[in-house]
Amino acid sequence: MKILLVCLGNICRSPMAEGILRDMIRKQGLPWSTDSAGTGDYHVGEAPDNRAQRATKDHGIDISDLRARQFRASDFEEFDVLLAMDESNLKNMIRLAPNANLASKAQLILDHAPEVGTREVPDPWFGEERGFDEVYDMLDRACSKVITHVRG
Ligand code: 4NP
Repeated sequence: MKILLVCLGNICRSPMAEGILRDMIRKQGLPWSTDSAGTGDYHVGEAPDNRAQRATKDHGIDISDLRARQFRASDFEEFDVLLAMDESNLKNMIRLAPNANLASKAQLILDHAPEVGTREVPDPWFGEERGFDEVYDMLDRACSKVITHVRG
């Protein structure tokens, strides 16, 4: 199972989600892999934002090794499940999908966790430090549900 997490810049939300999911996968001993990407190219090659690194580090998760890359059409072939952080990301991913069947692999990550009460992970980039902790909590809930749903 290969899971891709997608946001806009690939320096805040999706690397946090990748770090959380990868930690859960490792702890549960699942033979799965993860990656993350951004629909935009502004931050390609950069490490996650310091605030995203801090918020995950507070929970013992190190994401300093991750580097931003841009989402590409071939990700629809390479990955089994593609999880977008918000509706705009999802729309931009689907626009690149080679066909409707492959497009159906893309979903909103929070649709796995309706108890969070919103379908979109808010972009914390322009906000305050605590926004990253709120994003962490949403993604932590969503990632454990993703694992349950994907295992079937
Ligand atoms: P992300 O946050 O999509 O969660 O990585 C953003 C990072 C950078 C920008 C926007 C969102 N930006 O406009 O540079």
